[in-house]
Amino acid sequence: MEEYAPFSEKQRRAINFCQEPGYMYIAQGAIRSGKTYSALLGFFIYTQSITKYKLNIVGGRNLRAMKLEMLPTLQDHANTMGLTHHYDKMDNMWTCNDVKYLFVAGHNYQSEQRIRSLSLGSGFCDEVTLVPEEFFKHLTSRLTYDDSKIWVTCNPGSKRHWFKEGWIDAEKYDLIDTFYMDDNASLGEKVKERNRSLYSGVFKKRMIDAVWCNTDGIIYKEWLDYDRLPTKLAVKRIDIGVDYGVSSITSFVKIITAKDGKRYITDNYQHNGEEDDNKTDEDLASDLMKFVGGDKINTLYYDPTAVSFRNTLRRKKIPFILKAADNEVIGGIRTTMNQFYSGNMKVNKKCKHIIRELDIYSWHEEIPDKPIKENDHHMDAIRYVIYTQDKVAGLGLVRLPSYMQ
Ligand SMILES: Nc1ncnc2c1ncn2[C@@H]1O[C@H](COP(=O)(O)OP(=O)(O)OP(=O)(O)O)[C@@H](O)[C@H]1O
Ligand SMILES: [Mg+2]
Repeated sequence: MEEYAPFSEKQRRAINFCQEPGYMYIAQGAIRSGKTYSALLGFFIYTQSITKYKLNIVGGRNLRAMKLEMLPTLQDHANTMGLTHHYDKMDNMWTCNDVKYLFVAGHNYQSEQRIRSLSLGSGFCDEVTLVPEEFFKHLTSRLTYDDSKIWVTCNPGSKRHWFKEGWIDAEKYDLIDTFYMDDNASLGEKVKERNRSLYSGVFKKRMIDAVWCNTDGIIYKEWLDYDRLPTKLAVKRIDIGVDYGVSSITSFVKIITAKDGKRYITDNYQHNGEEDDNKTDEDLASDLMKFVGGDKINTLYYDPTAVSFRNTLRRKKIPFILKAADNEVIGGIRTTMNQFYSGNMKVNKKCKHIIRELDIYSWHEEIPDKPIKENDHHMDAIRYVIYTQDKVAGLGLVRLPSYMQ
């Protein structure tokens, strides 16, 4: 059982919505600010008290995350109240005190199909900005009773996000609260500070300051270069990122991670298949080995579509690990941006291809949260290394699903 911290005023409002008139409660705001925890409790108390509607819905971005985050919280609340409960893995159905809670992921087509034919009592939708609009519409349209209610949580995104424009700006809710980390009394100062340090730029505004804001202009507005590596640099590992284009640009970047966690982008390579003669995978593999030089490489993170190039490297038995990169664009940019803005990662002045791209790599003007797919080859190669590594280490706070890329 969890240890309880006193509920903050906003958390109490999320919980007490179960006693208020009205249909929709929205908890928007910063990460780890206690939104899900308190809104879920309000939803749970309400659904347990209105037992005449036996089927309720718990929606979110993916089932795994929901089972890891929401199910234990619900189980904990049930235990505290001395209620019996069990979870049916086959049906993704949690039953507590004879009341049923169907867990449905917004990105699972089959589970979305399931809710189309149901009449549901009340609902909970976690991280609504990460589920498709259609899913949310279906979910709300199934809450058919006069006293149906829904609790919704989210971190802010773009001002043009469908949920911001269609529900928040259109005031299609009954009560809304904006949460900050200070609204969660269970967080210590150190944890709050660590959470703050994970975000920069537009993502800091959204995830920490709880402001809906657009991505605009140049993506990496702040970054530092360097002339020479520090003397007595204690190297932890050296990695390579590869973005691959058959008849466009192939780029390699080399990144040193020091034992103190600092990163140095030391070198870059570019082959332009449009302007220069086309190179075969064999040619690119020999260029790669020249690029490696005498360095002992730990891992090469490649563009996950570059299967033929990977196969060529495998055949050549190159002496380092080959890993398909995680190509989640927004999560990757968020993590890479934080490395640049915090000054943890610097670029060698001689990396002219990287520096050229850093100066012009931009957000799309029309489509929120989408980079323009130009001048992005080295940017992608860097992102592959940083995101795939930091995500594994748990620092990437991966949240955005692939459909937002
Ligand atoms: N009153 C409380 N007592 C004990 N633990 C709490 C309390 N409120 C929140 N927590 C814990 O704090 C952590 C963060 O809370 P929660 O998951 O609700 O944040 P969130 O605002 O939904 O964050 P995110 O936007 O990252 O999903 C969770 O581990 C939760 O269990
Ligand atoms: Mg949450």
